[in-house]
Amino acid sequence: MAGYRIAAIGGDGVGPEVVAAGRRVLDAVAARDGLSIDWLDVVAGGAAIDGYGTALRAEDLDAVAGCDAVLLGAVGGPRWDDPDAKVRPEQALFALRGGLELFANLRPVTPLPALVPSSPVRPEVLEGTDLLIVRELTSGLYFGRPSEQRDTPEGRIGIDTLWYTEAEIRRVVRLAFELARGRRRRLTSVDKANVLATSRLWRKVVDETRPEFPDVEVNHQLVDSCAMLLVHRPATFDVLVTENLFGDILSDEAAVLAGSLGMLPSASLGDRRTAHGRFGLYEPIHGSAPDIAGRDAANPLGTILSAAMLLRWSLGLLPAAEDVEAAVRSAIDHGFRTADLLPPDGDRSGLRVVGTRAMTDAVVEHLGAGVDAVAAGVAS
Ligand code: NAD
Ligand code: IPM
Ligand code: MN
Repeated sequence: MAGYRIAAIGGDGVGPEVVAAGRRVLDAVAARDGLSIDWLDVVAGGAAIDGYGTALRAEDLDAVAGCDAVLLGAVGGPRWDDPDAKVRPEQALFALRGGLELFANLRPVTPLPALVPSSPVRPEVLEGTDLLIVRELTSGLYFGRPSEQRDTPEGRIGIDTLWYTEAEIRRVVRLAFELARGRRRRLTSVDKANVLATSRLWRKVVDETRPEFPDVEVNHQLVDSCAMLLVHRPATFDVLVTENLFGDILSDEAAVLAGSLGMLPSASLGDRRTAHGRFGLYEPIHGSAPDIAGRDAANPLGTILSAAMLLRWSLGLLPAAEDVEAAVRSAIDHGFRTADLLPPDGDRSGLRVVGTRAMTDAVVEHLGAGVDAVAAGVAS
């Protein structure tokens, strides 16, 4: 029996609820396909600050590094938001991303046809939208030093440092080119080269990398106009590659195209390979949603789709990944909706409003749906 070791990090707020959902789906796939998953539970974020005084213990980072993959919910919340606090839940994310050298964060945005009415964007604008944001994840403003507040005779000053080496840019840009090759061969590099030195270097490195991928069409887009185009003409994009903070902001914006922030998955990858695939960390792009935590109200689909990415990238189980994606589509096609997915026009006909657990049940019940549809000759 093939065995895999996966770290589960629920975190804070809705994090544990959505990770439980992702885990249930993976366990269901494993039971069906005769695989064994050995789960390692890790406490991180605000929960770890409360328990251990630090957002992620060094020994937990080591244990996670020894797994095949990590499934993460979200960290943070108002309880740990004191601006003068020395330890912050988000430090767990940086320790994982930086410590495990997960430099590329893949955030696919593939609106499901049945969710078009859930988006405030008009159907004719959404038509044909299928894009992938590749966000640099281990440098830029998130990791540049100094990053601090100083007291000066002129008053307090806040300092953050935006820093990129050419090697940091090149590795994520190369991966984005490779991913574009497997899709529609169009790459949009997003920067602010009219203002920032790091962006001008970013642009040069993209242009220097171009000859390695002559079959990929490249264009440069300034981040402000890109933000506008994402909701104005989303279907014109294929792969976008950008620095850490721009990628963070643009991906929450792009989530509107998919109907809800709760729909978007992500995979954070580096170069390290395991016996089964690439080591990676998988999490929905949303946060701990403290406003709905503990109420069985969170949409688990972003995490379940992250679990599908885990199957694909870290375990090398492509058919299982596609099956989970088909099961999500099928649950949506059968009318299951968490509250965040209800159409803004208020029309609920044919829809079944469910909580986190019932939505997860629906996905588990629809596993194999894609396979059945193919066997029956039905296009899904
Ligand atoms: P958020 O993503 O937690 O929530 C934004 C809005 O979207 C809220 O109204 C929330 O209820 C809703 N939402 C989010 N996920 C949802 C889901 N699965 N189903 C239904 N609705 C959902 O962003 P925020 O409120 O700005 O941040 C809250 C906390 O989360 C902060 O402490 C932030 O640092 C943290 N955060 C963590 C991560 C992470 O761990 N990767 C990511 C983003 C934010
Ligand atoms: C994300 C989150 C994090 C980020 C925060 C919580 C530090 O917004 O994963 O998108 O900015 O990377
Ligand atoms: Mn974010």
